[in-house]
Amino acid sequence: MYMERGVYPYFREIDSAQDTEVMMDGKKVLMFGSNSYMGLTHDERIINAAIAATRKYGTGCAGSRLLNGTLDIHIKLEKELAEFIGKDEALCFSTGFTVNEGVIPQLVGRGDYIICDDRDHASIVDGRRLSFATQLKYKHNDMEALERELQKCEPDAIKLIVVDSVFSMEGDLANLPEIVRLKKKYNATVYVDEAHGLGVFGRNGRGVCDHFGLTEDIDLIMGTFSKSLASIGGFVAADKDTINWLRHNARSYIFQASNTPAATAAAIEALHILQTEPQRQENLWKITNYALKSFRDAGFEIGDTESPIIPLYVRDTDKTFEVTKLAFDEGVFINPVIPPACAPQDTLVRFALMATHTKEQIDFAIEKLIKCFKQLDILK
Ligand SMILES: Cc1ncc(COP(=O)(O)O)c(C=O)c1O
Repeated sequence: MYMERGVYPYFREIDSAQDTEVMMDGKKVLMFGSNSYMGLTHDERIINAAIAATRKYGTGCAGSRLLNGTLDIHIKLEKELAEFIGKDEALCFSTGFTVNEGVIPQLVGRGDYIICDDRDHASIVDGRRLSFATQLKYKHNDMEALERELQKCEPDAIKLIVVDSVFSMEGDLANLPEIVRLKKKYNATVYVDEAHGLGVFGRNGRGVCDHFGLTEDIDLIMGTFSKSLASIGGFVAADKDTINWLRHNARSYIFQASNTPAATAAAIEALHILQTEPQRQENLWKITNYALKSFRDAGFEIGDTESPIIPLYVRDTDKTFEVTKLAFDEGVFINPVIPPACAPQDTLVRFALMATHTKEQIDFAIEKLIKCFKQLDILK
């Protein structure tokens, strides 16, 4: 139906470098739909690192980490990530999705509990579904609801709380200080997904756990390379025994081919850049604060976001697709978000910033979005 109406927004083809401006379906548009928060996907140093690793090791590993697929650069990346995050050890997977899918079910068994925020990412939901534990959910960021779920659990069972640190569609943060307080009160375990926190929050982009000074209190921290680290892959960091258990039990680690040399070398280089170029994170925050204020001043409903992910609420699926198409025609690419990525009454377009966006690009986009939102009566 959306195809017939010419507003189908998916699978548009990019045939240019991926930066703040891209060629998409033959048209030049400003990119406000990327997760490349550091703006590093076309960085010459990262490209060269990927090329050098490909020349040295080849294009693929043709095996899983357990058997023939471990390279010295996989180990180097794991060591550097563990140190960066502040945990004993880290384990790298071929995607962030398969970190959650493979790790979560290995942390709990029959008679235990997994407790999730109802806006957790799909990969967490899939990991939860693969476990034999009792599955509990609480209303998004409602700490009293979380406590009620904890009270339902057998005191001696494992109670694993799993949350996104930054919610990927709404841009708000998990209330980690309160989650840690409840963890201590109920003797629970906490697993935090830093997919959208890495690079953006904390010292040199260590993430939201670091931002709150809670790294030690969070038992497991996962992250992905597909956003701030300009590559693909993911990791989980935790204490030595937990990582050793996962290394020998997480199915998506053992039964999946290991990450490519190019992707691994790119993530290493990006991690170095994160630590040596704090100006990227600073610039991201400068333009984020600028955009947040501009959207609020223009009257957009942007919810509780505290990050470079800015949800522009539409609250109507048809209009969400229509406004995405109008914006595209005006030269602004944004992502439509509809169920199951959000609740039916909460449809939105997701406007995301990169450290490399300029104020002029943001001004241009906001001006066009005001026009499109007014045309559809979403903005008065
Ligand atoms: C919160 C969250 N966790 C995990 C993932 C999966 O990571 P990847 O796409 O790098 O496999 C995503 C991806 O969008 C995400 O947003």
